[in-house]
Amino acid sequence: MTQRILPTVVERPPAFIFREQRKSLFRRGGDFALHCEEIPLSKLAKRFGTPLYVYSATAVRERLATFQDAFRHVSHTICYSVKANSNINILRLLAREGCGFDVVSGGELERMLVADRRAAKKTVFSGVGKSRDEMTAALKAGILLFNVESESELWTLAECATRLRRTARVALRVNPDVAADTHPYISTGLRKHKFGVPIRDARELYAKASGARYLRVAGVSVHIGSQITDVAPFAEAVARVADLVRELRSDGHKIGYVDIGGGLGISYQDQSSDFDALVARYAHAVCNPLRGLDVHLLLEPGRAIIGPAGALLTSVVYTKQNDGKRFLVVDAAMNDLIRPSLYGAYHEVVPVAGPADSGVKMETVDVVGPICESGDFFARDRALPRLEENSLLAILDAGAYGMALASNYNTRPRPAEVLVSKKSVKLIRRREELRELYSAEL
Ligand code: LLP
Repeated sequence: MTQRILPTVVERPPAFIFREQRKSLFRRGGDFALHCEEIPLSKLAKRFGTPLYVYSATAVRERLATFQDAFRHVSHTICYSVKANSNINILRLLAREGCGFDVVSGGELERMLVADRRAAKKTVFSGVGKSRDEMTAALKAGILLFNVESESELWTLAECATRLRRTARVALRVNPDVAADTHPYISTGLRKHKFGVPIRDARELYAKASGARYLRVAGVSVHIGSQITDVAPFAEAVARVADLVRELRSDGHKIGYVDIGGGLGISYQDQSSDFDALVARYAHAVCNPLRGLDVHLLLEPGRAIIGPAGALLTSVVYTKQNDGKRFLVVDAAMNDLIRPSLYGAYHEVVPVAGPADSGVKMETVDVVGPICESGDFFARDRALPRLEENSLLAILDAGAYGMALASNYNTRPRPAEVLVSKKSVKLIRRREELRELYSAEL
């Protein structure tokens, strides 16, 4: 009997699924081929080359719908966090599904406007270092809310708004001093972090803000970090925000919005966990403390929407053995996906094709890129079926903070990106040409 060698647990339906393909009617067994929706990844590699980011539109839609469904009982807007993946085609897809956006720079603001100008009224602007130019552009675009992170920023915003004679709706991003169990680089809700204003100083600052003619105090915002899979810290942070909302209202402020930021994590390793159930638990945890407050809730998920919807496709350039250690040198590198190098992040790496019959030899390998740094790896000591040069591998859950964090280190063109929807394939970012990488220097 044929035995499924490539375990279903590594699949990410509906985005990435292994399908069996019979080689011949006269042979037992066939090959398993990894597909993005209906399209074999091998076909995409042939057509667009590698390294290549591949995204599933259906997965993006479904994951957004999971959020929308979990929060259907409360007045809310999902403001997708553009930093997770800022491809304009992805933004457009999300805007069509009713999404607003969370932007953190003039560049992201412009991407949002290009994707769908009408999304501006559902867009919030976060970040500790907004410049005058960025604020001015956001005021002109007519965004929904500025999440202000310091007193200095407040006065700069007041100045920009006064100059334009446009009112800026303001929420203070408060730092609730709540610990979240995640990588220290992406935890943000503690007193020691640079983010937000200490929650105990907030009332005083709101009082100052309300005195500025072109600022309108409109909400409270919070974001405690990223890749958080326990919902308790979210509940704790929102409970503190809810108390603040009550205090601010008693001070006479009109608080219409509570923005709870992003940060809900995904399971990079354990696929048996249920995403819908996690989002439902999250919704319960954050809505409970807000009950009776009658606020419009803003959510800024990034990773949870786009992470598992994308994979990085790469080819094995060389196999090599150093003192008993086996390496697969692939054509993607840390410049294309920096998460393993930067955070020691785990990403599932799977072969794109493999024989379906049992008896496939497994081996333990490091999957590494061509860059001259020992941190240039995707996986260490992983069991993979024996692969030859030119075989294809898919690095899963790379849709969030993959291409968005890619660089041109080593003068390497960043990967191309394709978006798959059932049987249709769209190149949503062509591969960079070498000349483009240095033309600004000539
Ligand atoms: N809102 C604010 C204010 C944020 O700072 C972030 C992420 C988000 C929303 C979206 O968080 P998400 O839902 O995606 O967790 N490069 C890191 C993640 C950095 C997250 C930064 N802020 C990584 O690859 O894990």
